Amino acid sequence: MKKLIFSGIRATGRLHLGNYLGAVKGMLELQADPDYEMLFAVVDIHAMTTPYDKDKLSQQTYEVVLDYLACGLDPEKSMLLVQSKVGDLHTELAFYFSTVITIAKMQHLPTFKEKVKQHPDNVTMALLNYPLLMAADILAYRSELVPVGIDQEPHLEVTREVARKMNSLYGLDFPEPKRFATKGEYVPSLFGEGKMSKSVEGSFINLTDDLETIKKRLAKTPTDAGKSDGKPASSGVVALLDMVALFEGEDKKNEYLKQYMDGDGIRYGELKKELAEAIYKELQPIWEKRKELEKKPDYVKQIIEDGAKKARQIASQTLAEVKEKMGLL
Ligand code: TYM
Repeated sequence: MKKLIFSGIRATGRLHLGNYLGAVKGMLELQADPDYEMLFAVVDIHAMTTPYDKDKLSQQTYEVVLDYLACGLDPEKSMLLVQSKVGDLHTELAFYFSTVITIAKMQHLPTFKEKVKQHPDNVTMALLNYPLLMAADILAYRSELVPVGIDQEPHLEVTREVARKMNSLYGLDFPEPKRFATKGEYVPSLFGEGKMSKSVEGSFINLTDDLETIKKRLAKTPTDAGKSDGKPASSGVVALLDMVALFEGEDKKNEYLKQYMDGDGIRYGELKKELAEAIYKELQPIWEKRKELEKKPDYVKQIIEDGAKKARQIASQTLAEVKEKMGLL
């Protein structure tokens, strides 16, 4: 039997290079591995944990579905899941998990603190419970590996704690899931400071950006004189070189580093032009496929329905076992 692997992306907007390199590429790698069956989820309920527009949520969910399929999610091999289609099961499981985790634990998570800073007027119970719903997503399918970026590590730590406690208190046999890391587990912001993020305007390149847009966005990354002056390179330059490594390879990055340290210096105009072209080359087939999919809404709807049906069967078995072991009638 193939092992199921769960990963999810929130329905908060179009996918960017961070989502693609940190998560989707890992999902595609596991999809190609015959030992595993991937479950690609759009976690729309998680999108409700920060302020959102109810009139846009379903469209945003659909956009992520299209992005997944365009990136190479193969419905013959993998499942596609819109989380709210099995929301009854996942949220019920999350509630049972909340009986074994303290409020203090959740309040101390760096991911929670970051969101509190971003949305001080929206510190809701839903936000506090975010990691438990994520634990339910993962453990409902007993996923041992989770392809996500490094920023998700605190949530996986909570998932492992939930698994350990449920196993020791109630005799369940949940795995303690580990992160499946990709080369792009941390994609920097185009500004050089922090990570590329949907919530920071100008920090990202979207999967559907054309060459001109990619060039314009890269133009904003701050650079320096191009030569080492004894001080470490600025964070903008480090971010650019990281992106070079991801899209043009480590050798190319080392070539630039040599120019920076003891050569003629880096000409950033050329570096950015070449980098934009390399990114565009990787993204072009994705948005061509996406345009095709946009013409086939019935086909896409069917994939959503099929995925939900299969996922429901598995998650409801897990839920039944948890209820029974926890003493419910
Ligand atoms: P979300 O939507 O914030 O992020 C989706 C995925 O993209 C990765 N990511 C990055 N990776 C590298 N560099 C970046 N700059 C970058 N920005 C985002 C994230 O690490 C993530 O893998 N909590 C999850 C959603 C979720 C989930 C789950 C994931 C809910 N339930 C169960 C896995 C399993 C999240 O942060 O989504």
